[in-house]
Amino acid sequence: MAKHLFLLPGDGIGQEAMGEVRKIIAHMNDAMSADFVTDEGLVGGCAYDAHGAAISDADMEKAMAADAVLFGAVGGPKWDSVPYEVRPEAGLLRLRKDMELFANLRPAICYPALAAASSLKPELVDGLDILIIRELTGGVYFGEPKEIIDLGNGQKRGIDTQIYDTYEIERIAGVAFELARTRKNAVCSMEKRNVMKSGVLWNQVVTEIHKAKYSDVKLDHMLADAGGMQLVRAPKQFDVIVTDNLFGDMLSDVAAMLTGSLGMLPSASLGAPDGKTGKRKALYEPVHGSAPDIAGKGIANPIAMIASFAMCLRYSFNMITEADNLEKAIATVLDQGIRTGDIMADGCRQVGTGDIGDAILKE
Ligand code: NAI
Ligand code: MG
Repeated sequence: MAKHLFLLPGDGIGQEAMGEVRKIIAHMNDAMSADFVTDEGLVGGCAYDAHGAAISDADMEKAMAADAVLFGAVGGPKWDSVPYEVRPEAGLLRLRKDMELFANLRPAICYPALAAASSLKPELVDGLDILIIRELTGGVYFGEPKEIIDLGNGQKRGIDTQIYDTYEIERIAGVAFELARTRKNAVCSMEKRNVMKSGVLWNQVVTEIHKAKYSDVKLDHMLADAGGMQLVRAPKQFDVIVTDNLFGDMLSDVAAMLTGSLGMLPSASLGAPDGKTGKRKALYEPVHGSAPDIAGKGIANPIAMIASFAMCLRYSFNMITEADNLEKAIATVLDQGIRTGDIMADGCRQVGTGDIGDAILKE
């Protein structure tokens, strides 16, 4: 059955990185009869230049209809002064909102070849493979009231509100347990139930849904601050971590630094399963931005984008062997000492975006 991919390369190195994924898709179609059907649209600054919006309604419709969206990166100095509502990031925010992508998956994988160059103790991160699942559409970033009030005595008050309803916690926990089953079968849920009511509810709901539907999965609870400490002290103790929007934002950035360069980090954002088909809406993107400082030079690291496509194979198409092979190809090329500038080390060979992409494709 045809698998519909909608490609949104965006701006800057988003274009260059997506080029390497296009090669892999073409190869999978030609040599492996993968039956990918691709369409492409504009997002970010290039969409603003073309339509005056960070994503057009027509492209938004295509994104909604696709089996999966592959997103590059958006932004750049050229668009720093465009109106706030149509700034490049607005395209990504609209995609997340309209597709209801509530589950943000951020793997932190440390390839053996890069462990030695880690700023942390190599034995702590060598072979690291954890998955942080961040709730993306609720919590303190969205709760109302959200305002700054003038108290009139020379003082002001800034207010943000953390709100989580049962269904929001249930669905994110469900994603965590289901994905844990495809991994090492262990989930650690993080909140601050000692000081937050939303944390008490989070803990209860995760515990209940675990008991009712996922009791085969090992479940632990950790206070999020202690979790941050453990993530740095002994990260390999974790398999899947599930947490709210705010803690997930911070913990996933901490975990990112366990693995090396921004150019290595993939992500996925998933929505709820469709009532009829059971398929989840999904968007896959590298964690990095458009890197204006190196854009157009052919030196960007495409591994984050390629690894995002591997996540797409795994989570949207259940192509587990293909995903494993693609990830192994990345590891092999790194073992061979082939590197882009951002991950360059002594004794390695520095190459450009296209060369490392070709090397991965060959493997
Ligand atoms: P950035 O991630 O684009 O770049 C940060 C630094 O990391 C730069 O020195 C860059 O050269 C390097 N870098 C990033 N990805 C790399 C790769 N694949 N290979 C080699 N080096 C890489 O973040 P920055 O500079 O803060 O933002 C640049 C633009 O990107 C801004 O307009 C920002 O708003 C936008 N941005 C977009 C994101 C997205 O599309 N999801 C996420 C973050 C930033
Ligand atoms: Mg962040």
